[in-house]
Amino acid sequence: MTPNLTRDAGISICLDRHRDVGGESWCFCAGVGSVGAYMTTIPETSKGDYVPALRFPALTRFYDRLINATMKEDRFRRLLLAQANVQPGHRVLDIGCGTGTLALMLKRAIPAAEVIGLDGDAEVLAIARRKANEQSVEVEFRQGLAYEPPFDEGTFDRITSTLFFHHLTTANKLRTLERARALLRPAGEIYIADWGAPQNLPMRVAFLAVQVLDGFETTSDSVKGALPSLMRQAGFRDVSENHREMTVFGTLAMYRAVAG
Ligand SMILES: C[S@@+](CC[C@H](N)C(=O)[O-])C[C@H]1O[C@@H](n2cnc3c(N)ncnc32)[C@H](O)[C@@H]1O
Repeated sequence: MTPNLTRDAGISICLDRHRDVGGESWCFCAGVGSVGAYMTTIPETSKGDYVPALRFPALTRFYDRLINATMKEDRFRRLLLAQANVQPGHRVLDIGCGTGTLALMLKRAIPAAEVIGLDGDAEVLAIARRKANEQSVEVEFRQGLAYEPPFDEGTFDRITSTLFFHHLTTANKLRTLERARALLRPAGEIYIADWGAPQNLPMRVAFLAVQVLDGFETTSDSVKGALPSLMRQAGFRDVSENHREMTVFGTLAMYRAVAG
């Protein structure tokens, strides 16, 4: 959300909060007396633009516990960060950052890196910010859509993303990757961990649980292992799959590519 602060000389007291039909967007305005401090918060995303972490907003608060209990989470996140080789002074964007676990882990490991998390969902970002406060870790969490990221082009050294791309349609995966490539500095790198092509029948069957929860439309690209080819289409070079492992929910694959 983008807060706008303006001054108003009128004597007015206005406090209004309302939700739109989608239930997600909101606006908060307060104007007080002759001082006239007036604040408007403009929503940057609305329901329908993104799929929440566990598809249904009511489940978001259980996300961390579920992933921690089922995904050997610490191990795969550390592996991705080791591959990303972030250096002090780097500016790093974590797309679809969710509850912020990866971004916070990265900032704790490399305090001199600037780490920003982007997510469409205000609720999940509230959890991420709370965790950052509890851990006294300084990460900026921004609300915005992955395919319309609110950042200047050519300003990031690394982009990371975990368990996010399977939330997007094929067209939006491509848009997001194109935008990600544009956000990276020349020779900047992207590291993605997401569901990949199952390497055997048990992994294919296990992945059905994710497909039922997150929807078949967006997850069928994972079954086809389509991300590397979409990364090439988006203009990335040296695209590679660096790691693949079996989990209770199917095959987790890790990809790397360089901004061309
Ligand atoms: C399964 S969660 C993964 C969160 C985190 N990256 C992790 O590894 O735990 C996917 C996240 O992507 C976000 N998301 C889905 N579609 C999005 C979009 N179009 N733009 C930005 N965020 C989006 C959801 O709000 C959710 O927090």
